[in-house]
Amino acid sequence: MLSEIMEMDKKYYMNTFGTRLPAVFTHGEGINLYTHDGREFRDFFAGIAVNLLGHAHKDFVAALREQAGKLLHTSNLYYTEPQTRLAKMLCESSCADKVFFANSGAEANEGAIKLAKIYFYKKGQAHKNEIITLVNSFHGRTLATVAATGQPKYQKPYKPLTPGFVHVPINDSDALQNAITPNTAAIMLEMIQGESGVHPCDAEYVMTLRKWCDEKEILLIADEVQTGIARTGKMFGYEHYGITPDIFTLAKALGGGIPIGAICAKDAVAAAFEPGDHGSTFGGNPFSCAAGLAVLDIVGRERLVGHAAQMGDYFKNKLNGLKERFPVITEVRCIGLMIGVDFGGGFASGIQSELFKAGILTGRVGDTLRILPPLIIKEADIDAFTDTLVKVVEMQ
Ligand SMILES: Cc1ncc(COP(=O)(O)O)c(C=O)c1O
Repeated sequence: MLSEIMEMDKKYYMNTFGTRLPAVFTHGEGINLYTHDGREFRDFFAGIAVNLLGHAHKDFVAALREQAGKLLHTSNLYYTEPQTRLAKMLCESSCADKVFFANSGAEANEGAIKLAKIYFYKKGQAHKNEIITLVNSFHGRTLATVAATGQPKYQKPYKPLTPGFVHVPINDSDALQNAITPNTAAIMLEMIQGESGVHPCDAEYVMTLRKWCDEKEILLIADEVQTGIARTGKMFGYEHYGITPDIFTLAKALGGGIPIGAICAKDAVAAAFEPGDHGSTFGGNPFSCAAGLAVLDIVGRERLVGHAAQMGDYFKNKLNGLKERFPVITEVRCIGLMIGVDFGGGFASGIQSELFKAGILTGRVGDTLRILPPLIIKEADIDAFTDTLVKVVEMQ
């Protein structure tokens, strides 16, 4: 069956993902995933920071079943309870006053960019339409978010790019200051860059840029698509920095595996979106919002914010111990359960494939191994991971 699926995929699926890892997953439970041929994997990547509750979480599945049996979709011409309740819950647990639901991270970011532009347009300052983002950022795959993303490899074939984006290196206040002009509408950033290999912004840098945003009437947009919903040991990544953004976006973990995105904003900014200015057919439908509600409910009941912080500390200590033992590990960056492990000499690729052979799923960018486990992970799971990592590193 594996070869049959691989051949069918090759024939019928657009080849944007290259040759995928040889596994056809059929089901999962907790942090485990199972293939059609009975192999068991431990999921230390959570579908790229999505499955925060692991797989087939009983209460989550029950909530999805209940909503699916009642109402999957109606248009946004009507009210639905899950949409309103999820918006309320997100506002009550964050700095936002209003929410708009999209279907993905890129779409939420696209909406946030539109919101920043329309905010100044409606103030009679249409010239303020430039957005500053960071080098090595990742904001999505739509045309505007590709232009926002500070990585030429994603942009090259899609020129001319959507205009109005300027990129500056992370944690470089001088470069940021030089990039700000009277036309700057917003600074958009991931507080902790995910796709580039877990690179956090410095606290001082974020505080300085918040101050400049206030002084120069610039909006601060936090892309919390990867950091949001407890991943970093706080509900939202910005909480690590003692500041609040004017707009932040969510996706990934918010739906626990069901596609959803969210633009969250403070009242004064959110008010710029008036009837007809933005919209979505699927965004905010009752099924995806019921998923979001169940995720937030379970995160609260199972105290997953604190648990992620605790497990993150445990993971960090163990990985730093390995760094002492094995010089091939050059750096460990760990913010809650958002983890990047740097290897010297191009070893990360081999380490990742040996971990896969040993039944462990991880991610990788360049020479950085990325670890983003479900937040329900336990110490014993981390011990099993590091024991395997030791064996794999010793083999290199
Ligand atoms: C920080 C960040 N923003 C945006 C996106 C894009 O999200 P999506 O793939 O749901 O469009 C991602 C995806 O990895 C991300 O990590």
